[in-house]
Amino acid sequence: MSIKAVDIRYIYNAGTPSAVTALDGISIEAGRGEWLSIVGHTGSGKSTLAQHLNLLLTPSSGWISIDGATVTPDSRSARETRRKVGLVFQYPESQFFAETVREEIAFAPSNWGVAGDTLDACVYDAALAAGLSPSALGSNPFSLSGGERRRAAIASVLSMKPDYLVLDEPTAGLDASGVRGLTATFRELCSKGMAVIHVTHDMEIAIMMSDRIAVLEHGVLAVSGTPERVAEYLSEHPVKGLVMPASVRFARGLRERGIRVPLASSVNVMIEALEVARSHRER
Ligand SMILES: Nc1ncnc2c1ncn2[C@@H]1O[C@H](COP(=O)(O)OP(=O)(O)OP(=O)(O)O)[C@@H](O)[C@H]1O
Ligand SMILES: [Mg+2]
Repeated sequence: MSIKAVDIRYIYNAGTPSAVTALDGISIEAGRGEWLSIVGHTGSGKSTLAQHLNLLLTPSSGWISIDGATVTPDSRSARETRRKVGLVFQYPESQFFAETVREEIAFAPSNWGVAGDTLDACVYDAALAAGLSPSALGSNPFSLSGGERRRAAIASVLSMKPDYLVLDEPTAGLDASGVRGLTATFRELCSKGMAVIHVTHDMEIAIMMSDRIAVLEHGVLAVSGTPERVAEYLSEHPVKGLVMPASVRFARGLRERGIRVPLASSVNVMIEALEVARSHRER
């Protein structure tokens, strides 16, 4: 069970002098239970790709397939697809409209005809899954902290019980503890069988947290694969505008001194490698 974008090409303002080819033959896949990061410099096409995944945009060519079936915005399955693939926009809190967090989260399922106790349970479960305390449900969304607002917005998409969650720069503007909390929530959602497709320019999160990474560069796929493969590739072929995390630079420094470590190592793994190297020298 997976979501696939196959050979997607997308041109904004096609056929006019201001035409822009935002995506030029992109293929990616994310399986349920997997965390895929989509990274790239500004303007590389990340948001355009994210909006294809829940059919908000229709590819100029190529197709989207979900759980083995090709889907288009005008297909009979489009409505069901939009339920299966939840999209959280960048700075989603700017789109809050309801007086309470509860109403905000209830909006989508109530449009689908969910009501009464089932709706209450749906809102409660979505809040918990997004890591939002149920005590916040009666609050005005704008009275919440930045991190809580982001969680409320995520809960309003989780209330549809999607199988695939697409998040466009969900950690932008959060402090370190907000980022840590939110990324722990994404891992938890993956462990429940959801696919998390995480658009970010933060290479540190992508390399240290995700299962696989797709790197976009000017609308084409520069490289994709495990964090280790992507870190290896980018070390040899840097992409302008993508900053490698300090941990990868440190791992490269260790390698230059003859200490073999994976480039996508955690700090603990690197400390262990240093201790092993020191004990070898002392022998
Ligand atoms: N509505 C639009 N009309 C015309 N061109 C657009 C539109 N939206 C995006 N583009 C262009 O498409 C390309 C890809 O844009 P996109 O927003 O997908 O990039 P991004 O990787 O999400 O960038 P960022 O990191 O800044 O969010 C850019 O060249 C951008 O200028
Ligand atoms: Mg974007």
